[in-house]
Amino acid sequence: MSETLTIALSKGRIFKDTLPLLAAAGIVPVDDPETSRKLILDTNDPTIKLVIIRATDVPTYVRYGAADLGVAGKDVLMENGGEGIYEPLDLRIARCRLMVAGLPGGYEGTRRLRVATKFVNAAHAHFAAQGRQVEVIKLYGSMELAPLVGLADCIVDLVDTGNTLRANGLVPWESIADISSRLIVNKASMKMKHRRVQRIVEQLQRAVEEA
Ligand code: ATP
Ligand code: PRP
Repeated sequence: MSETLTIALSKGRIFKDTLPLLAAAGIVPVDDPETSRKLILDTNDPTIKLVIIRATDVPTYVRYGAADLGVAGKDVLMENGGEGIYEPLDLRIARCRLMVAGLPGGYEGTRRLRVATKFVNAAHAHFAAQGRQVEVIKLYGSMELAPLVGLADCIVDLVDTGNTLRANGLVPWESIADISSRLIVNKASMKMKHRRVQRIVEQLQRAVEEA
């Protein structure tokens, strides 16, 4: 029997959007992570397992080889570093934009900007490239609240429909990057399990092109 292949996924939109692509590659999970408490899910293929983890942990599992493959947002790869892993395929799912947003008016005044975000590294890199002095305040969620209560002048956050910004009276100031989810692969797995990994990459690529 072939050795096991492990694929790391996060619950929610990434799992939901990856499911049809995996199905096209012949991989169908036996349990639904939204109802099951299991963290390791069997699939129809006894040699392929899914591990269900936090979105931000996916690159870590893949880098250390605890998972051979994974699906991670480009935002997560930008923020936590995509080093030590391959990124062979843009899955074109969970698409959104990493943006600077704030109250209407944009960059006004000259004082040092206060930026609230969970994307601290991406924010620093963006504003440093502009030569703009900023103080970055790390938050873990609900970034949109920060400008409303005077915690920050603006936020760096993901925007899709813009509904969350609008609901809170905020507007986009500028776009930092287009975001989508990427297939990532452990470097040793790419070598040692090359034939199986390559086959999955090609099947997923076909599914993405047909989607
Ligand atoms: P965690 O729950 O671990 O804090 P998270 O809340 O970022 O992570 P999700 O909301 O499932 O997890 O987001 C997973 C990925 O989906 C993000 O890394 C990003 O690439 C993408 N994403 C986030 N928000 C949106 C959105 N509103 N529309 C489309 N894609 C999004
Ligand atoms: C993401 C993001 C924004 C929102 C943007 O949050 O952090 O708040 O989506 O999407 P929109 O432009 O379509 O409104 P999410 O819904 O994932 O909630 P979370 O922050 O709890 O993960």
